[in-house]
Amino acid sequence: MKKGTILVTGGTGYIGSHTVVELQQAGYPVVIIDNLSNSNREVLDGIERISGIRPEFVEADCTDMKALTALFDKYTDIKGIINFAASKAVGESMEKPVLYYRNNLNTLMNLLDIMAERGVKGIVFSSSCTVYGEPDVNPVTEQSPIKKATSPYGNTKQISEEIITDVINAGAPFKSVILRYFNPVGAHPSAEIGELPNGVPQNLIPYLTQTAMGIRKELSVFGNDYNTRDGYCIRDFIDVVDLAKAHVIAVERMLEDKSEAKIEIFNLGTGNGLSVMELITAFERATGVKVPYRIAPRRAGDIEQVWANPTYANEVLGWTASTPIDDTMRSAWKWQQRLRERGIM
Ligand code: NAD
Ligand code: WQD
Repeated sequence: MKKGTILVTGGTGYIGSHTVVELQQAGYPVVIIDNLSNSNREVLDGIERISGIRPEFVEADCTDMKALTALFDKYTDIKGIINFAASKAVGESMEKPVLYYRNNLNTLMNLLDIMAERGVKGIVFSSSCTVYGEPDVNPVTEQSPIKKATSPYGNTKQISEEIITDVINAGAPFKSVILRYFNPVGAHPSAEIGELPNGVPQNLIPYLTQTAMGIRKELSVFGNDYNTRDGYCIRDFIDVVDLAKAHVIAVERMLEDKSEAKIEIFNLGTGNGLSVMELITAFERATGVKVPYRIAPRRAGDIEQVWANPTYANEVLGWTASTPIDDTMRSAWKWQQRLRERGIM
């Protein structure tokens, strides 16, 4: 049976592009909408080289309702939406809060409006472990307390979750799956797609791979005096392809009515916390490449430690993050090398 079309907002971005590949490989026709504010058209070539299929692409902004209407007029078989489109830099959100609230919230509200109008069955929403703030207890479950957001970016994720919940509770004619990602890392093993940070990377892995490549002099390790097993911050680093696969399962669940629930929330993590130093060691072990680093002061606002209890996703979705960290480090490195070969970085 022909599968319904999935609209992937932000589909040329980091997690979106990997998800488009998995959707296509599972037989879903895909339409991408992206305004290319944090990605580029070449990503479509990478997707096509992996899956053999070029996804339909609309360059437009999700905050533009006219553009969304035109898209739905053109593609009349859209059955589900995966909403990746958002601005995601925590630091920038502190400087430009209105930009973050406007982009992230207007995008979501436009999509919810048009879904109801056009009979779309469900929306998968990209949320984040940032909603748990600094947890009192690790690992965190979906029932762990939501902490007051410490950045406008984090707040947009909390508000978005509330908007979706309110809209569904008000009787909206569709379902939603909210996925709380931990720290997505790595790239597609083919190195055809991966993360494309703008300017100086703020996140650990792109900074680390750029340092290993010699683009940056050394990696600053922010803090070694945390109250953790080795003094470094601990995160749950999840392979981006594992993460992408969970979206296909979530979409299927909504479209095929596999659950009674109209709204479901899942943690997507490995269940293993790894410290920043353990990650550097894993990278060096997996690739044989040394990473010059120095211990630097703590970074303001950093969470000391957070990792997921992914049992609910494991049991209900039948999904686990199974890629060994060494493989993830190799894919991250292969991607960085590919960027160099292409003269991009
Ligand atoms: P990304 O920046 O690589 O991808 C987002 C894409 O959305 C980009 O291609 C960008 O051009 C596009 N976009 C932004 N605003 C848009 C708009 N108004 N209209 C159309 N397109 C728009 O980010 P990512 O890392 O792939 O993140 C995807 C989603 O997952 C985001 O919602 C992000 O907040 C969330 N998330 C990311 C992480 C992470 O560490 N990467 C962790 C938790 C949650
Ligand atoms: C990881 C660890 C740093 C860079 C952010 C967002 C969060 C979520 C995921 C979207 C920390 C350390 C980093 C460096 C370092 N995104 N580090 N040197 O802060 O866990 O989470 O991305 O929802 O909301 O806040 O990720 O990769 O920035 O940092 O030592 O140059 O690496 O201190 O302990 P973070 P990160």
